[in-house]
Amino acid sequence: MSKLTVNGQALEVGASPETPLLWVIREQLGLTGTKYGCGIAECGACTVHVDGKAVRSCSFPVSAAVGKQITTIEGLAPNGVLTKVQKAWLDHDVPQCGYCQCGMIMAVTALLKTKPKPTDADIDAAITNICRCGTFQQVRAAIHAAASA
Ligand code: FES
Ligand code: FES
Repeated sequence: MSKLTVNGQALEVGASPETPLLWVIREQLGLTGTKYGCGIAECGACTVHVDGKAVRSCSFPVSAAVGKQITTIEGLAPNGVLTKVQKAWLDHDVPQCGYCQCGMIMAVTALLKTKPKPTDADIDAAITNICRCGTFQQVRAAIHAAASA
């Protein structure tokens, strides 16, 4: 058994230490906002926060998350008040199919914690999530809007 804290809730999950955190989140906890894309840490669809840092949960062993605070997209706005990133996403019509967007929002939220006013270069360096719908320009505009909100 592994003891995890997910979205503020202490839980015990039965998973071998090397199991990717993504599988625990989706299959055992039923938190399906975190998506499976590539499975090899390339696309970012599976991004969650571990102690506030963005990690790609498809390639992050559950053993590395023990004792840390894990936040998924479901835990980003626990009392139903959207974050400034989520509001900017709506205002700029960022999601198209939406598949990549939970991971994108998690990555951007982590970026704005360390760089509250990111430049385009900062965004290019930090937000390497892949969006098959090609929303990159809307993502950039929404990040700047969230940063100045
Ligand atoms: S599914 Fe994890 S990075 Fe693509
Ligand atoms: S909105 Fe469709 S993959 Fe990004």
